[in-house]
Amino acid sequence: MRSVYAWAGLVLAAAVLAGCGGSGGDEDVFVIGMSQCNLGEPWREQMDADIRAAAAEHDNVKVIFRDAQNDTLRQRAHIEEFVSQGVDVLIASPKEAAPLTEPIAKAYDAGIPVIILDRAVLGDKYTVFIGANNVQIGEAAGKWLKEALGGTGKVVELKGLMTSVPGGDRHNGFRQGIEGSDIEVVFEADMQWLEPNARKEMESALARFDEIDLVYAHNDPGAHGAYLAAAAVGREKEMIFVGIDALPHEGQAYVKQGILAACFEYPTGGREAIDTALKLLAGESVSKKIVLPTRVYTPENVDAGGEAL
Ligand code: FRU
Repeated sequence: MRSVYAWAGLVLAAAVLAGCGGSGGDEDVFVIGMSQCNLGEPWREQMDADIRAAAAEHDNVKVIFRDAQNDTLRQRAHIEEFVSQGVDVLIASPKEAAPLTEPIAKAYDAGIPVIILDRAVLGDKYTVFIGANNVQIGEAAGKWLKEALGGTGKVVELKGLMTSVPGGDRHNGFRQGIEGSDIEVVFEADMQWLEPNARKEMESALARFDEIDLVYAHNDPGAHGAYLAAAAVGREKEMIFVGIDALPHEGQAYVKQGILAACFEYPTGGREAIDTALKLLAGESVSKKIVLPTRVYTPENVDAGGEAL
């Protein structure tokens, strides 16, 4: 037989799971569900930290975090769990576009305000999308390296997961950026945003090509993995490395250390997600797409805080 304390515990747990809701809830605390695709990546740790810090400034907000550990099915289950809990707002940073479109659309159809952070889904069944413009970043990277290489050279492109929208956008933008030059992409591979994969792909590129002038990686872990592969065979000085994300303790630090020749900021949007959630909960209207600004960091400007794109 259950003790009276066990029953009390169950009732309490049910109340928490139900979410407090804007009205009539215990202390009018709003419950926000945050579905993160992979906390194993430094940039995503930063996103959750930014959300946590922004939420801590408001007594009426509680965030429940879930980490899908880079598993699409697990992320799907987390989103479904948030819907059945009846969270007041869902924030999701999806691993991949197509497979996560449906559970997110279901949350939206169930009347939950949905904020998509950084990686887009298909269609328009969400309330707000927040992220930087990845085509613009890719294009800026392309133009930057076109200039750095004097319009000609051999490049390795290490791509982010191509079933996620930023991977495709950073690729397409980059190709636009180098258009009309004599730059040749001699090797390209999908390293799925992960440093160990980038290192492996770069090992193959180094084994196949005697001349590589530049590595363009879709994120800083990828650029760092490529650098380590080149350094392991004593070739890191033959080429330069360009990345994206520019966290102060990651990409910006690599620029200061002379590992990256340039990196482009990709803001996490964590703080903006909380601000937007609060606006939605207050019944304010919010535009469907919030585009975050970006910056470029090079050895020349990193100490001065980079330069806006
Ligand atoms: C982390 C990450 C970042 C990248 C972003 C793109 O998972 O790979 O490095 O900029 O996702 O969505």
